[in-house]
Amino acid sequence: MANESLTITDNRTGKSYDLPITYGTIHATDLRKIKMNDDDFGMMTYDPAFMNTASCKSTVTFIDGDKGILRYRGYPIEQLAEKSNYLEVTYLLLYGNLPTKEQLTAWEDSIKLHTYIHENVKKLMEGFRYDAHPMGMFISTVAALSTFYPEANKIFDPEIRQKQILRLIGKVPTIAAFSYRHIKGMPYVYPNNSDSFIQNFLNMMYSIGTPHSEIPPIFEKALNILFILHADHEQNCSTSAMRSVGSSHVDPYSATAAAAAALYGPLHGGANEAVLRMLDHIGNIKEVPAFIEKVKNGEGRLMGFGHRVYKNFDPRATVIKNLANEVFKVTGVDPKLEIALELERIALHDEYFIKRKLYPNVDFYSGLIYKAMRFPVEFFPVLFAIPRTSGWITHWQEMLLDEDQKIARPRQIYLGHDSRDYVPIEKRK
Ligand code: CMC
Repeated sequence: MANESLTITDNRTGKSYDLPITYGTIHATDLRKIKMNDDDFGMMTYDPAFMNTASCKSTVTFIDGDKGILRYRGYPIEQLAEKSNYLEVTYLLLYGNLPTKEQLTAWEDSIKLHTYIHENVKKLMEGFRYDAHPMGMFISTVAALSTFYPEANKIFDPEIRQKQILRLIGKVPTIAAFSYRHIKGMPYVYPNNSDSFIQNFLNMMYSIGTPHSEIPPIFEKALNILFILHADHEQNCSTSAMRSVGSSHVDPYSATAAAAAALYGPLHGGANEAVLRMLDHIGNIKEVPAFIEKVKNGEGRLMGFGHRVYKNFDPRATVIKNLANEVFKVTGVDPKLEIALELERIALHDEYFIKRKLYPNVDFYSGLIYKAMRFPVEFFPVLFAIPRTSGWITHWQEMLLDEDQKIARPRQIYLGHDSRDYVPIEKRK
């Protein structure tokens, strides 16, 4: 077997260092041995945006961006999307294996015990402005849960931790649905625990005047698949935020609110909303070539395209594109689909996008499905946050139980002023 080490020669001093290689990586702190002299802090790596830094070891999700592979706990995403259901996937993510029938029933029952929110949480939500962005409401309300469950900060007690996991998975659909009803000016609909997880969520969204609304079965199927596809995606921006904030040992509600805030941005989970706004802005299929030219000239981005990890195709986008066709058969084709298809067709043949390996990502088509299901655009990131909550808490728990982990605290290269004396205000120029 080849020697599992890396030899580095520092040409400033002529010294050589042998650094052990584990799992194809070197330990960044080993570089600190590389010094000019005893006063030298030692070598660091400069890696803004963590382009090439593994921040943890994980057994949850595997991605091969070049081959377009995504697996949860070893199971290919395509198989899970076709055969599983969202709650089964949450169990898989959290506990590492698919549940038996008994385990699944017990899991579903225990989540159902936690779908209601405290009446004062409801009152808090009622206090938002009529036009509040539902993602802002979602983030703030999840954070507020920490004040209702103060014991949640005992994060190293396995029973207490488990209770908060159930509460988070059970309550986020209720908070999401209440935020939707709020912007619609409609009374909040309480959870119905005799429904499935997805049926209950759709009912809290759509029900008007009757305890149960007529929901096309394809909506339940679509949401189940979309929730599975969005449940986890290893060390993305929001999951890294969850781990980073959670590494301070704050309670899981505050950490989840931080993760949801990271998801809100248009480069991450806000991209599905941004895609629809972009399609609105383009307005007409004839305008597509001019829009593409603008993107190529650096005037904005083609939202829903490109990914930090996927450089061939996003396997979630493939599943979603097929799903979109199934949904449109029932709802009718959205005229925006034509614009989206034309954007995709031109971009996939254009040198600019080919050279940079930019392909449609999960958000390119998910927004069109959500729109066909009559969800308002500002609600799209919330629909991403509901399932991603299960990924966040899976990573949060993995981080807490990982002995290698400590409070996240990156280094910097300081390029500011050297020491200088304070200047009284009257002497400043
Ligand atoms: N449209 C046009 N050009 C792009 C795009 C795009 N969507 N994405 C990347 N580029 C260009 C970028 O300008 C750069 O060009 P150059 O080398 O000439 O400077 C090159 O491609 C590399 O881009 P980057 O910004 O260095 O790549 P990144 O890995 O930092 O960014 C990304 C990844 C997803 C933030 C980016 O592709 C993007 O902004 N896409 C649009 C937003 C989007 O759809 N986000 C959803 C991501 S998938 C859901 C999720 O997991 O959050």
